[in-house]
Amino acid sequence: MRIAVLNGPNLNLLGTREPAIYGHVTLAEIESLVRAEAKALGVEVEWLQSNHEVAFLEAIHALRGRVDGVVVNAAAWTHGNLAVRDALLGVGLPYVEVHLSNLFAREPERRVSVLADRAVGFICGLGPAGYGLAVRALVGRLRGP
Ligand code: DQA
Repeated sequence: MRIAVLNGPNLNLLGTREPAIYGHVTLAEIESLVRAEAKALGVEVEWLQSNHEVAFLEAIHALRGRVDGVVVNAAAWTHGNLAVRDALLGVGLPYVEVHLSNLFAREPERRVSVLADRAVGFICGLGPAGYGLAVRALVGRLRGP
């Protein structure tokens, strides 16, 4: 089994970006956490971070036939980018949505996700640990009961 973990804009700045909200853990450290979780579960991971919408969309298109499911933190695109939604739905891959911060404790605009209603599940507010939980939940869903 193979999964993709997709990270949207500005997540490359984790570690120094608004630490009161996102903490001090870097994206590279989150990638290590995800890879360790995936290894324990016996699955392969494709990891991507992009600040470029076109690259992000094309990466989603290219996942079809290569992975079985997706964990996605679309960052700010979560709150209104229908192209990212359409790409995920277009390739027909099940996805778990994850966010480091608790969106519901932030500005009203962040309480809206254009991805959440079609996600397998939604995790937010648990920091980096949420990524590991998302991987575990996705793989559990893909493997079935
Ligand atoms: C985020 C929350 C988004 O609102 C924000 O734009 C991000 C990160 C999170 O992981 O908490 O860039 O997706």
